[in-house]
Amino acid sequence: MEVIRNHHQLQAYIERNKEMGKRIGFAPTMGALHQGHISLYQAARENNDLVVSSIFVNPTQFNNAEDLEKYPRTIEKDLQKLEASQLVDMVYLPSIEDIYPEKTLSKKYNFGGIENEMEGASRPGHFDGVGTVVEELFKQIKPDNAYFGEKDFQQLSIIRKLVQILNLPIKIHGVPIYREESGLAMSSRNERLNPELKDKAKIIYQVLQRIKEWAPSLSVQEIAHKVKEIFEQEKDMELEYITIADEENLQPTNAFSANKKYRAFIVVVVGGIRLIDNIALH
Ligand code: PAF
Repeated sequence: MEVIRNHHQLQAYIERNKEMGKRIGFAPTMGALHQGHISLYQAARENNDLVVSSIFVNPTQFNNAEDLEKYPRTIEKDLQKLEASQLVDMVYLPSIEDIYPEKTLSKKYNFGGIENEMEGASRPGHFDGVGTVVEELFKQIKPDNAYFGEKDFQQLSIIRKLVQILNLPIKIHGVPIYREESGLAMSSRNERLNPELKDKAKIIYQVLQRIKEWAPSLSVQEIAHKVKEIFEQEKDMELEYITIADEENLQPTNAFSANKKYRAFIVVVVGGIRLIDNIALH
């Protein structure tokens, strides 16, 4: 596996491989790699000649300084995991200047409204930050295919919109959520949970499964009410939001309609750690 640490080296690598007609599959990450990331590489391995990843903790997508500071940075371990997986041909570790040559600021995007709900409302500016770094990485790496986890389903929708707005010839692939045995969605943030909190956090997926059973015979309001009640009884857990939204445009719904596909989106803060998950209701 090649490790590339700057933009110029990257350019030479990409040009060389493009000239040879290699198809590039790309999975960007912020490191603290886990099995969920490995599942992105496995998907990329299936229909590309080269699998490329990046590790870059992107400051502009954090709206909370403490969250950015506490984000796990485990680069040596990550490189070992990548090497051991034998799935990745090259990993790009850009410096801040490689991504933000001038100021470390986000561009402003209009993603047609999907940026305003849920994570967009809870974390102002988050999707502008994601859009900015992913646009830059796409321009530098020029992938044919790019892979994103469905855990961050709203992010996946934003990226689909981004390539459409920028007219980039990149196919975006959503990869199903990779769960621990307990059902907890794999996340770099799970590393910050102590064993007791991690055990408690498995309730998040159990609740999502209940929602799937309840919908659509219970109304959206009844479901939301039941979910709130469940979390009110849990110590060290705070429900930030439960939203049922149209899977197409991510607009929250107040009532199920038969010809649409819905997803339930949830954020729970467990012992101060913000965990996100979702489930398809179809
Ligand atoms: O999902 C992530 O890890 C990040 O949001 C991404 C896509 C790598 C952009 O920084």
